[in-house]
Amino acid sequence: MDPRSIGAMSRRTFLIGASTVTLVASLRARADASEIRLAAAPAKASLLGSNRPQTGVWAYNGEIPGPALRLRQGEPARIVVENRLAEETTVHWHGVRVPNAMDGVPGLTQPPIKPGESFAYEFTPPDAGTFWYHSHADSLVQLGRGLSGAIIVKEREPVAVDRDLLWLVSDWRLTEDGEIAAGFGGMMDAGMSGRVGNVVTVNGAVAMEAPVRAGERIRLRLVNAALARIMALRFDGHSPVVVSLDGQPCEPHAPEGGRVLLGPAMRADLVLDMHGDPGRRYDVIDDFYDGLSYRLARFAYGEKPSSRDHASDAPLVLPRNPLPEPDLATAERHDLALQGGMMGGGALAGMGGMKGGMNGMMGGMMGGMGMMGGARNAAVWAINGQSMTGDGAAEMKPSLTFGRGRSVVLTLRNQTAWWHPMHLHGHSFRVLTRNGAATPHRQWRDTVLMAPKDVVEIAFVADNPGDWMLHCHVMDHQMTGLMTVLRVS
Ligand code: C2O
Ligand code: CU
Ligand code: CU
Repeated sequence: MDPRSIGAMSRRTFLIGASTVTLVASLRARADASEIRLAAAPAKASLLGSNRPQTGVWAYNGEIPGPALRLRQGEPARIVVENRLAEETTVHWHGVRVPNAMDGVPGLTQPPIKPGESFAYEFTPPDAGTFWYHSHADSLVQLGRGLSGAIIVKEREPVAVDRDLLWLVSDWRLTEDGEIAAGFGGMMDAGMSGRVGNVVTVNGAVAMEAPVRAGERIRLRLVNAALARIMALRFDGHSPVVVSLDGQPCEPHAPEGGRVLLGPAMRADLVLDMHGDPGRRYDVIDDFYDGLSYRLARFAYGEKPSSRDHASDAPLVLPRNPLPEPDLATAERHDLALQGGMMGGGALAGMGGMKGGMNGMMGGMMGGMGMMGGARNAAVWAINGQSMTGDGAAEMKPSLTFGRGRSVVLTLRNQTAWWHPMHLHGHSFRVLTRNGAATPHRQWRDTVLMAPKDVVEIAFVADNPGDWMLHCHVMDHQMTGLMTVLRVS
């Protein structure tokens, strides 16, 4: 087995006896037929450490997180997903600009994969960068039980760093005996901040320690795969430089306020020059929520420095991806108001014209989707008065239709009291303004984090034909109505 093909995949991979076999098999298969196989199935994971009870999870190839998929920019990939769960599933390739039929939205872009069946996803990633994949069926439960993994699309030319690290962060709500707590889709989670957990893992382990060497330059790929948890990361004793956001290279810059802000589904690639003291440990702290700061991970310096006595001074700018530039002068403009949720005290906020959406759209959908009880199929949120709930369905009619190749500016207005990471499928967009002020680098993203009452303008070229979801990536919010469909015809 070529160790380079595993790269930054976690060491844990090799400690899990049974799944190592699967992994080796999948790497072989890939080497032979350039085909990747992912099997979604129940599994056990040692999230809390080897001396604590294991957690029953749902996993790809038996691993938490799923295996990191290493694809090449501009080269076709074929990924066969096998469903060994007791319910339907699909996989969405978050941030990768794939053809609509490969987007993994059940009902809308493909029939869901039934238990025991497989589906072959085929696409050629146009952009190099850090992306991720996750279930898009029964999303709240399937993502919450572990069905996610990273996608690394390599640049055509190697980037000048000493090492490439991947940290996929997951958030779990566990009971005392280490099992995943029941009660997905409760009304309080749905109407408020979503299902924020009580255990946070990096690459499937709590309190992860990353061994590093003084003098090396690291590219750190961060993926927030949580259902709802927003993170703001501080790197004690280090000065990270942001070089890419949501897989799209940016002007290298220090994170705003010294913290890397990552809402659910968002990614950041950082370059870190490791100039700490040999033998010392440095904490990475998440202090997004007031009074709930905790150590996410830490760097553990080895006693020996690297061969270099100072970190590389090679330029940090990554090559641009082939994204079409929106023409703001001719762009068509639309407003999307995010509405609903609970106010303080637990009362549902008024949602203006939302009733029509509930009666019309919801009736058919709730019957058709066969979901379980709880708040999951209730309309708690809306966009422009209309609630599309669940994961996707054939009945979802587009709220806007764009001619192919049109430049589009959307003004997203968060009229709620809650944060929302808003994600668009099939396209990356520039974030032009926030609350009337130009954003520093008009950053390309596929997910924009909106604070309560934020107004954000985004722009993109509608160049990818099909029906595409635009939704909040707090899974409880998506399932309960903070979603719409945009059509590119
Ligand atoms: Cu990563 Cu529709 O989602
Ligand atoms: Cu997506
Ligand atoms: Cu939300």
